[in-house]
Amino acid sequence: MAIIIDGKAIAAKVRDDVRLRTQKLTERGIRPCLAVILVGENPASVSYVTGKEKALAEAGMDGRDIRLPAATSEAELLALIAALNADSAVHGILVQLPLPPHISEDRVINAISPEKDVDGFHPVSVGNMVLGRPGFLPCTPNGIVYLLKEMQIKTAGAHAVILGRSNIVGKPLASLLIRRDVNATVTVCHTGTPDFSLYTKQADILIAAVGKPGLVTAGMVKPGAAVIDVGVNRVPDSSRKSGFVLRGDVDYDAIEKIAGWITPVPGGVGPMTIAMLMRNVVEAAETP
Ligand code: GUN
Repeated sequence: MAIIIDGKAIAAKVRDDVRLRTQKLTERGIRPCLAVILVGENPASVSYVTGKEKALAEAGMDGRDIRLPAATSEAELLALIAALNADSAVHGILVQLPLPPHISEDRVINAISPEKDVDGFHPVSVGNMVLGRPGFLPCTPNGIVYLLKEMQIKTAGAHAVILGRSNIVGKPLASLLIRRDVNATVTVCHTGTPDFSLYTKQADILIAAVGKPGLVTAGMVKPGAAVIDVGVNRVPDSSRKSGFVLRGDVDYDAIEKIAGWITPVPGGVGPMTIAMLMRNVVEAAETP
């Protein structure tokens, strides 16, 4: 039976530290502040943004909760970002993705000042990350590396296989895992990989970030591997009041029996993403 990686408990410890740092700043008259912008009402995005705002309040930080209609123009959003860039009371700016199709995510991300880019999505942040220079690290990949370290899962010399090449998880995670202090050998599988199970079966660390419920089955996993499930999929379930149940990208019940470690969904990677975001915000506020 796998060791269950309790992301909620590990995230709570990170958030305790963030709360103390926030307290120190507040005593000096600085209240860390994150502006969270949500355009439209995508139900998953509404839920993520609400979670981030709750975490800000719990840490004693200030949250600017900016909810805009789906019809907001790109120019309006860019003007708002320019105003937040210029506002010295705002330390971080987060635009929840995805954006409605008439708005260019690239132009919006490019508009956020790298000093306030607590998501780590700006090309300057991505460049700094790849080069190993100081800058904000993207929250989900950074949270995954944190979990591996906290659980003392051996990464040096390990073969890490990532499923998915998104800008938010797969690509930056590959970059973090090959850093010298992590020292994994990384394979990235994507929709162009003919048979990804050839790679997953060799993985000491398997990270699934594709958004397909139950895609990874027990036969694809090497016994004893660490399995990190980034998927948060809403699967219809009429027995639930919400009408859905959250499922990861891996077949948890079967893989839990053979893996060495496994993250649950929910309660694994998700809480770490928020904790790392809070850490980035307090760091932004600490930076003169
Ligand atoms: N959409 C899915 N994950 C994220 C995230 O980490 N940050 C933002 N801004 N949008 C997202």
